[in-house]
Amino acid sequence: MTVPKTKLSNGPYIPQVGLGTWQIKDKSECLQTVRTALENGYRHFDTAQIYDNEQYIGEALKTSEINRNDLFITTKIWLLNFLSTRLLSSFEKSLNKLQTDHVDLLLLHFPVPKLRHSAWKKMEEIADSGRANSIGVSNYTIRHLERLLKDCRIRPAVNQVELHVFLQQPELLKYCEVEGIAVEAYSPLAHGYGLTNPVLAKLAKKHSKSTAQIMLRWCVEVGAIPLPKSTTASRIAENIDIFDFTLDESDLIALRGLNANHRTSWDPTPIP
Ligand SMILES: NC(=O)c1ccc[n+]([C@@H]2O[C@H](COP(=O)([O-])OP(=O)(O)OC[C@H]3O[C@@H](n4cnc5c(N)ncnc54)[C@H](OP(=O)(O)O)[C@@H]3O)[C@@H](O)[C@H]2O)c1
Repeated sequence: MTVPKTKLSNGPYIPQVGLGTWQIKDKSECLQTVRTALENGYRHFDTAQIYDNEQYIGEALKTSEINRNDLFITTKIWLLNFLSTRLLSSFEKSLNKLQTDHVDLLLLHFPVPKLRHSAWKKMEEIADSGRANSIGVSNYTIRHLERLLKDCRIRPAVNQVELHVFLQQPELLKYCEVEGIAVEAYSPLAHGYGLTNPVLAKLAKKHSKSTAQIMLRWCVEVGAIPLPKSTTASRIAENIDIFDFTLDESDLIALRGLNANHRTSWDPTPIP
């Protein structure tokens, strides 16, 4: 399975689906999951300092036969490491755990009040050093992005947010498209919520796909990059097999009706 790629605003290409790895903490499960994903064609892996699995992902990737240049590795700076004195050293620990000299994408995990602006300056230093090919943010609303864009030297290439058919965020998608910020969809399966929804079931039957594949394809159709998490071999294979069909206008209209502002995670809107 060859996954199409999207060009980020600063130049590099990112595979249009990535493996989510939140809550995969057990070493053997994590090694097995990453190896299964590689066998099924995944080259894009999403981790974070707080997931406590960077070391296992690093080991699985390092011991694979895949060339580092063909991999796309993302990690995220955890809140407690936003302090200028900690950010660089925490990033260096991440690189050591991931057994690589650079990441493809480094994100600030949350729009931490006050600290996020100085943290972004450190992110820019990391980008300058070549140890992160691209830098970006996560859980940023339009308001957070507007402020960042006003005083950044390097623009964020990516915003990773909760996005799925039950939380479609059309204004944020439009804003990011206009500003040239790629959107990554976290919890693209709404953490398993809604997979038996009748609208999804009807479209699944029409396209001879699963409801999960309809949810993931919707992300691609709206220009986002889904990051489904699974430790189940059959689902890992299923979740990347979304590039041999498209959703037509009537499908997209039907799916638009599922938007319910349903969050499986927290809402960053109130964060100043
Ligand atoms: N930046 C952030 O703040 C943030 C927050 C949340 C998540 N994320 C990222 O986004 C990734 C994905 O989000 P997520 O883990 O919350 O949820 P998700 O990918 O929406 O859903 C994962 C759940 O769906 C199940 N599943 C996976 N594929 C399936 C399929 N084909 N059919 C039926 N069930 C399926 C999984 O079960 P099994 O594993 O048992 O198969 C698991 O219970 C995370 O792993 C992480 O990398 C980022």
